[in-house]
Amino acid sequence: MVSFSCNMNVHAVGNKSPEGNACIEGNKTEKEEKIMKKATMILDRDFAVGKVDPRMYGSFIEHLGRAVYGGIYEPGHPTADKNGFRQDVIDKVRELGIPIVRYPGGNFVSGFNWEDSVGPRELRPKRLDLAWFTTETNEVGLHEFADWAKKAGSEIMYAVNLGTRGADAARNIVEYANHKSGSYWSDMRIKNGAKDPFNIKLWCLGNEMDGPWQMGHKTAYEYGRAANEAGKMMKWVDPSIELVACGSASHAMPTYGSWEYQMLDECYETVDYVSLHRYYGNPTNDTPGFLARSMDLDDFIKEVVAICDAVGGKKHAKKKLNLSFDEWNVWYHSSEQDKEIWKGDKWGRALPLLEDIYNFEDALLAGAILITFLKNADRVKVACLAQLVNVIAPIMTRNGGGVWAQTIFYPMMHASRYGRGTALRPILTSPVYDCEDYEKVPLVDAAATLGDDGSVTIFAINRDLKEDITLACDLRAFGDLKPVEHIVLHHDDVKAINTEDNPDEVAPSKVRNSKLDDGKMNVKLPALSWNVIRLSK
Ligand code: AHR
Repeated sequence: MVSFSCNMNVHAVGNKSPEGNACIEGNKTEKEEKIMKKATMILDRDFAVGKVDPRMYGSFIEHLGRAVYGGIYEPGHPTADKNGFRQDVIDKVRELGIPIVRYPGGNFVSGFNWEDSVGPRELRPKRLDLAWFTTETNEVGLHEFADWAKKAGSEIMYAVNLGTRGADAARNIVEYANHKSGSYWSDMRIKNGAKDPFNIKLWCLGNEMDGPWQMGHKTAYEYGRAANEAGKMMKWVDPSIELVACGSASHAMPTYGSWEYQMLDECYETVDYVSLHRYYGNPTNDTPGFLARSMDLDDFIKEVVAICDAVGGKKHAKKKLNLSFDEWNVWYHSSEQDKEIWKGDKWGRALPLLEDIYNFEDALLAGAILITFLKNADRVKVACLAQLVNVIAPIMTRNGGGVWAQTIFYPMMHASRYGRGTALRPILTSPVYDCEDYEKVPLVDAAATLGDDGSVTIFAINRDLKEDITLACDLRAFGDLKPVEHIVLHHDDVKAINTEDNPDEVAPSKVRNSKLDDGKMNVKLPALSWNVIRLSK
């Protein structure tokens, strides 16, 4: 039984009061009860947030749990290719549409020697991984992962180790991966079987270096200096690369804010992006409060933008830094289970760690997060759903068995497929509710994109637990548009999940298109739903 601690009484917000907004508390009349709540949205091609960078729909594979071993890689599986990669998993990743994958960590990277992962497999060392208390066999390394990423239709975003290592190892891997030939490391890549460079364009300067759990944890000043020196040398090797500096491990870190400011003071001119990481949970079973967490995300994004610009201003810098939200998701379901796994098998290989099983409400929050990214598309250029397979992932596998989509798969797939082109700034009004951490949470949140072919896609969630809401869209600025489809993700049970045996328990369906009348369209958003409304020229 779900209990709700939030106050779902509604008020209207926005620049005008939504007509017909029914108040559901107090002495409501029968008539009032029957009036459907209403939100409004005006879109115009001139109200643009910015171009959507396709890398906003990235994901993440870490050497952790069954992400690599038992996830993407399982030699002997009936669908495995000659390199041991599961074709059924590659097909699912392609279906999801992931233009870039962050690799190889995560916390793992802060103790990783990249040289261990190249060259003849039989000579690669087995190492203790102090991030996840497992054993890393290095069976899959840079060359194998590059092959996999190509098949999956993804670019690689590669993280270097600035925890236990530094600038020298970082510049060497750029030389290994991206330099054509004629140097020690590039010739070694060729000897190891890759004649052409991997041409990795986006590089993370370490991972969560503000976190005391990180191997080689640093102060903001120490990290800023290390990132600057490593980044400077990496760009000397290949000036075409872009660099991501580590922001705080979360909005809730005690050093958040000052960390960003101080470390950027040391490396602003060298780097191109600042990273943000954020995971949400619902341990108190407060669905309205949980669904409001995208408000925290929006604050977080705007604050980090402000800090980047403050440092830029102080430095009289011409360049602006953008954001790489390179870890985001729901993560809490598996925490207790992981403690038990470690008790039983510390230093094991491919342990089933961080295997969160996602429910319907998690998919709604994932949708709200994607909407928030679109609304901030002018500065959020990269974002990675963490992670991709088995480990806090949209895609699950069974060893020797099937592959299936978790609930969070669907909003990500929809946004990646249809949320391209230019993000539009919607003028929205919606009834709102209050909850523990936030006041005036809009029951309806929405974003929209204008495709290069003139198509318009609206993404909307209805956070109302019980009531459908009419979203009145004003699309007159686009001339003739034809409704293509309205996709809805809804389940009556917020805790519903998908399993291997029942993979479509939570799955999108199509509902009847709403009619466009003189550029105006009323769309019914079912109570608790994620919606994709597609219109074409
Ligand atoms: O994605 C799981 C872990 O979460 C990553 O390794 C780390 O960067 C973060 O704390």
